[in-house]
Amino acid sequence: MSDELTVEELPGVGPATAEKLKESGYEDIMTIAVESHTTLAEVADIGEAVAKKIIVAARRMANIGGFETGDQVLERRRNVAKLTTSSKALDDLLGSGLETNSITEFYGEFGSGKTQIIHQLCVNVQRSEEEGGLGGHVVYIDTENTFRPERIIQMCIGQDMDPDEVLKNIHVARAYNSHHQMLLVDKAKEVAKEHSIKLFVVDSLTAHFRAEYIGRGALADRQQKLNKHMHALLQFGEINGCVIAVTNQVSAKPDAFFGDPTRAIGGHIIGHTSTFRLYLRKSKGNRRIARLIDSPNLPEGEAVFTVVEEGIRD
Ligand code: GTP
Ligand code: MG
Repeated sequence: MSDELTVEELPGVGPATAEKLKESGYEDIMTIAVESHTTLAEVADIGEAVAKKIIVAARRMANIGGFETGDQVLERRRNVAKLTTSSKALDDLLGSGLETNSITEFYGEFGSGKTQIIHQLCVNVQRSEEEGGLGGHVVYIDTENTFRPERIIQMCIGQDMDPDEVLKNIHVARAYNSHHQMLLVDKAKEVAKEHSIKLFVVDSLTAHFRAEYIGRGALADRQQKLNKHMHALLQFGEINGCVIAVTNQVSAKPDAFFGDPTRAIGGHIIGHTSTFRLYLRKSKGNRRIARLIDSPNLPEGEAVFTVVEEGIRD
């Protein structure tokens, strides 16, 4: 990344434009280089022609990179780290845990364990790499008001961690609507300047979008917004080398958009952006079944885990 160059150094960017760009979250050359000229024109309040010129310059100056050979990709993949779920079966299903630099989506009906897994990840990410963690902080976007510090405390006790310390490293924000939810990703970049964020959570990714964009006419607009949101998350993950975990509901009954009740809300767009998708369903008592839906490099399969007072276990 072109850390040395600043937004002000781009031709056509005066102090006022630089200020507007930064306010809107365009703080480095790379984020400008990958933006569309229409969006940039709008956020910086400049003409589209000027926006185009700025983007062309940013692309020239940013280290966009070219093609890599397979062995170089392999070398880069070696830097991918894994985060444990506290269930061996679930970790194995995911190829030894959740990967950094990609999005893992948990979808399933109410009570299937999505929020429980998210809480467990918030605790685990703070452990050392030897213990299956990533030694970092958490950004938690809570759209349904289901983050429970009490649950975090129980999970800390479950593995001899100091709950006060753990809670201090979880940065929670309530998102009141989908627009707010999207803005919070930009806001999180400020948190990332002060702390090493190794887990970014959105629980639930889709609830606001589902409630706000109703009817067939709203579908295209909703998908476009969701797509943008997912890409912002992925970008955050890649820049910070962190795990992105999101949850998604399935419609309880056949839905006008998707028909099949086991299909996740958001359809293809989310399916194509998430690198790992896990479908969760309830089984007997505290048992839950996770199925890996599509992954670029892992076989499909199922894992059984349980939700107990101490958290997620086999
Ligand atoms: P929605 O957000 O409603 O779509 O559901 P979800 O998939 O997020 O469900 P969640 O992860 O909140 O799972 C709730 C279930 O976890 C409860 O029905 C309980 O079965 C279980 N659970 C939650 N807390 C505890 C606990 O302290 N002990 C035990 N044994 N189980 C718990
Ligand atoms: Mg939940």
